[in-house]
Amino acid sequence: MPTSSIGGSRHSEKGEGEPVLFIGGDARAHLDAFSGQFRAISMADEPGDALTQLRRLLDDLAITSVSLVGHGSGAAVALSAAAAFPHRVRRVALVDAVPDRDPATPILCPVLVITSEVQRAAAEALASGLQRGRSAVAAPGATDALLGTFLAERLSSFDNRELRSAFGSFMTGVTIVTTAGVDGQPRGFTANSFTSVSLEPPLLMICIGKQAASMEVFRHARGFAVNILSEAQKEISVLFASKRADKFEAAKWRAGPFGNPLIEGSAAWFDCARYQVIDSGDHIILMGHVEAFSYSDANPLGYARGHYITLGLEQAAVNAASSASRTVVGAILENDNRLVLLPDPARPNGLVLPEVGRHGHSGSASQLHDLLAREGMDATLGFLFAVFENPGTREQCIYYRGEALLHARGRTVLADFDDIPWDRLPDEATCSMLRRYAAERKIGRFKVYSGDHLQGTVKAVD
Ligand SMILES: Cc1cc2nc3c(=O)[nH]c(=O)nc-3n(C[C@H](O)[C@H](O)[C@H](O)COP(=O)(O)O)c2cc1C
Repeated sequence: MPTSSIGGSRHSEKGEGEPVLFIGGDARAHLDAFSGQFRAISMADEPGDALTQLRRLLDDLAITSVSLVGHGSGAAVALSAAAAFPHRVRRVALVDAVPDRDPATPILCPVLVITSEVQRAAAEALASGLQRGRSAVAAPGATDALLGTFLAERLSSFDNRELRSAFGSFMTGVTIVTTAGVDGQPRGFTANSFTSVSLEPPLLMICIGKQAASMEVFRHARGFAVNILSEAQKEISVLFASKRADKFEAAKWRAGPFGNPLIEGSAAWFDCARYQVIDSGDHIILMGHVEAFSYSDANPLGYARGHYITLGLEQAAVNAASSASRTVVGAILENDNRLVLLPDPARPNGLVLPEVGRHGHSGSASQLHDLLAREGMDATLGFLFAVFENPGTREQCIYYRGEALLHARGRTVLADFDDIPWDRLPDEATCSMLRRYAAERKIGRFKVYSGDHLQGTVKAVD
C-alpha cells in the first residue's frame, strides 16, 4: 500500500468523493472496501499525540469536513476529535471498541458504535449518553455493510434551501458589522443575525459564515461595531453584502470611540470589544462587550423572506388607508413574467391593474383579495410597492406587488413588460409607477415609493 507524506503527515488514500478517514484497523482492507464510494483515507499509525496528527493531516489535505471511522484504539481518537473540533467532523463510527469520554464535552455529530455481542451493553450505554448516538451489533463479517450504510446516510433529512427559507420567516432588522481589523484595513459585512444578549454585562452577538472573506479577520479582531441600518440605507446594505473590495471607499463612515468603523446615518450603533468567539457549525458567533453606543429616531430597516421591509412605507399605507380621502388598493402582479391587467369597467377598451376603490367607496386589501378570487387568480401580495396620492384624482393609492396564479384565464389580459399597452391605461400615475416597476424588475431590485402629499409626486424612500 503506497503511503504518501504531505506536509509531514503520512497517510494512504484511494477513491474519490466525500472524505472518510480510517484510524486504526487494517488500512488496505478499509481502502479497498470503501474507495468505490468515498475518498477513503487511512492515517498512518505513528508515535506521538494522535489527535494532533489527525488535525495536521486534515490541514495538510485541506479537508474541512470529514467522517471518521475509529477501529480499536483508533476509536478513542475519533471520538476525541469529534469533541475537540466539532465543525470538521461530520460523523463518527466506532468499531470494536467502546472508549471512555468526557461527559462534560458535548458531541453533537451522529455517532454509531458497532461491536460484537460481547460489548453490546457498553456500546448501548455510550450511545445513549450521546446526543445523536446509536449502537449496532454486527454479526461476523457484517461490519463493512453497516459502516457503508451509515457513511452514506444523508445527515439531515431536509433541504438546506428550505431551512434557510424557514429561518427567513423570522423578520429582523439589518446591520452592518465592521471591524478596524488587525492590519489597519477596515472590514465589514451585512448581517441580520444580530441579537442583544445581556444588559449586565452589556453583551450582544452576531454570527458570521465561515465562507465570508472577512471571517478570519473578525475571528481575531480585538473588537467590532454593529451598525443598525435605517430605512434609507438599503443601498449600503446591498453594498456590504457584496464581495466588493472597496466597500469602505463607497461608504461614509468614521472611527468609533473603540476604534471600529461607524456607518453614517445608521439608526443605532454599538462599538464593542471582543468578548467571546464561539465556533458553531458553518458560522462563528461573535460576542461583543458594548463599550459605547448611540441611537437616533430614524426608522430601522427591516428584512424578511429575502426582502427589505420599510416601516415608513408600511406606516404610509396605514395612514393612506385611514385618511379621509378615497383609497385605491391595487396590485402589480406577474404571471409567467407577464403583467396582469383587467378590463376597465369605466372605459371601452381601457385596461387597469387589479384594483379596488377607484369608483365608489374606498378599497381595502381584503376587497382586493375578493376581486382577485372572482377573476380566477390566486396571488401572494407579499410586498408593498408604492403609496402615493394621485394628483389627478386626489385618491390615496396603495399598490402591492406579487405573483399571480391563474386558475382561469377569465377576463385577464397578460402583457409583456416590453410591450405594455400604455395608451389603454387609466392615467399618468399608473403609467409612471409601471415604468418604474418594469425598470426595477430588469435589475431584480425593487425600491419602494411613498407619495409626497403636497406635490402629489412619487419619490423613492430608499
Ligand atoms: C440582509 C442580509 C443579511 C445577512 N446576514 C448575514 C449574517 O448574519 N451573517 C453572515 O455571515 N452573512 C450574512 N449575510 C451575507 C453577507 O453579508 C455576505 O456573505 C458578505 O459577502 C460577506 O462579506 P465578505 O465575504 O466580504 O466578508 C447577509 C446578507 C444580507 C443581504
